[in-house]
Amino acid sequence: MAQAMSFSEKGEKMELSQLKIPTHVSIIMDGNGRWAKSKGMPRTYGHSKGADVLMDICEDADALGIKYLTVYAFSTENWSRPETEVKTLMFLFRKYIKICYGKAMSNNTRVRVIGDKTGLAEDLRESIRVLEEDTAKNTGLQFQIAINYGSRDEMLRGMRRMMQDYKEGKFALEDVDESHFSSYLDTDGIPDPDLMIRTSGEQRLSNYLMWQHAYSEFYFTDVPWPKFDKAELVKALEAYTSRDRRYGKVKA
Ligand code: FPP
Repeated sequence: MAQAMSFSEKGEKMELSQLKIPTHVSIIMDGNGRWAKSKGMPRTYGHSKGADVLMDICEDADALGIKYLTVYAFSTENWSRPETEVKTLMFLFRKYIKICYGKAMSNNTRVRVIGDKTGLAEDLRESIRVLEEDTAKNTGLQFQIAINYGSRDEMLRGMRRMMQDYKEGKFALEDVDESHFSSYLDTDGIPDPDLMIRTSGEQRLSNYLMWQHAYSEFYFTDVPWPKFDKAELVKALEAYTSRDRRYGKVKA
């Protein structure tokens, strides 16, 4: 349970009820491998623990009033990790998608997978298809899992479809604006993240939602993903509450 009162980045006392709740939170769940190694365990143990943490964070985010949660589970670059690690992650995704189905149906959660699904095994794609279809009308937390996702890859895939539509005369060049381009991305219809959280000390974007994060607030913590919990999420929300978002304008 998060403390009812703590301190923001500016050192002000803040109660839970004073928190500004972002509509959309995105997370880079980093540090599974390092955390596991620090315990003398294989990296894959960290991923397994990380999957458990993700289940809890979904419920915590929903309870705190966050409407959209997007997590980076596997990047287009992660295929080059050792074969056993990739296999374990794919095994975890299969297991997680099944557990997620039951949870999403009882919690009214809509689940979508973003990324290039054509690169995934047929059975995993099928479970994802069923999960997405059966939760499509759920109105609670809108939960996105990025698997085989890379921002540059997403933009190129979108651009190819957009050029095809142009060739077929579906729009004119003057129609191309930010919202038109956004509609070709995997996140079509999902608002941009307000807050991006990265765990485990690294401070970079790693090809994650680069278009969508244009005006997001970034929060970095040294806590590794397997140790992230509701209290840590609340700390990130406190930091967000104390930020001054100007979107390139000057304050009125
Ligand atoms: C980064 O930590 C984490 C990943 C590449 C995988 C994220 C996966 C999970 C949290 C678990 C499974 C997710 C689902 C949706 C079931 P890292 O291994 O790069 O850590 P390191 O930087 O310490 O090596």
